[in-house]
Amino acid sequence: MGEKGRFLSQGNTAEIYEWETDKILKLYRQGLPETLCEDELRMTKNVYELLHIAPKPFEIVHIGNRVGAVYERIQGTTMLKEMLSKPWTFSKYSRLLAQCHINIQKPVEFKLPTVKAKLKRDIKASPLLSNEEKQQIYQYIDTLPDGNKLCHFDFHPGNIMVSNGQYHVIDWMTGCKGDGLSDIARTSIILRYSEIPRAPRFINLISKNVINKIYRGYLKEYLKATGVSIEKIRVWEMPIAAARLREWIPQSEKQTLLTFVKKSISVLPSNSTV
Ligand SMILES: Nc1ncnc2c1ncn2[C@@H]1O[C@H](COP(=O)(O)OP(=O)(O)O)[C@@H](O)[C@H]1O
Ligand SMILES: [Mg+2]
Repeated sequence: MGEKGRFLSQGNTAEIYEWETDKILKLYRQGLPETLCEDELRMTKNVYELLHIAPKPFEIVHIGNRVGAVYERIQGTTMLKEMLSKPWTFSKYSRLLAQCHINIQKPVEFKLPTVKAKLKRDIKASPLLSNEEKQQIYQYIDTLPDGNKLCHFDFHPGNIMVSNGQYHVIDWMTGCKGDGLSDIARTSIILRYSEIPRAPRFINLISKNVINKIYRGYLKEYLKATGVSIEKIRVWEMPIAAARLREWIPQSEKQTLLTFVKKSISVLPSNSTV
């Protein structure tokens, strides 16, 4: 049995600590349901077996009244830290981000929630949308393609670790399967609108500027490498922004997303004929 060591890092849902010599403990914040941590461990195991780009998962542990999961420690740093500390590398990493995303978009056989079911479940839980708006979005989702591709659904440079020129994708809690382009739309929404929680405002502004450039480079590379038309990605953005409204994100980001969603709903064909 290992022991919680030095604090290493943190994200929105968890703090990361050393665990034995070559592992980490992902210690979830209080209040996060244990089933989510178990789902993440199971999902990471499936992805690890399918692609070998996820950290090897070990076990669930309890520390006081919090739950955690033990994973292989990836030596190295996140792509986000690399980019922000060396802004001249952003174009190289934007391309790498797109290539990495293309590489994980494999058909999946193992059990996973579908993109559409996940979006509907998250939208249902958002207190910022009326029932009528939710019904309109559900109907719209039903018109979108299904698909069978692995989707990470939180694929951004903070969840990619770079180690000796190799990359690893971490943080599989939101994984699902469906139209691969929904995952590209999800990354686009995250990169376009995200604010960095807990960062001073001026850091946020500088970073946002760089992240915007990353977004443009990422999308350009994805479109070039796959030949996909941008409209097929854009159609996913409204329901994805709506679903993001129930996440642990800053209030100002929620307001921006809400404005985007309401504007998009108002131009849906069913509305324009009224
Ligand atoms: N397997 C790992 N090896 C090394 N560092 C990790 C590992 N997993 C996470 N980290 C570090 O911890 C941070 C937060 O982890 P993450 O799983 O993304 O948590 P959250 O769900 O809170 O975003 C990452 O950005 C990374 O710096
Ligand atoms: Mg993360």
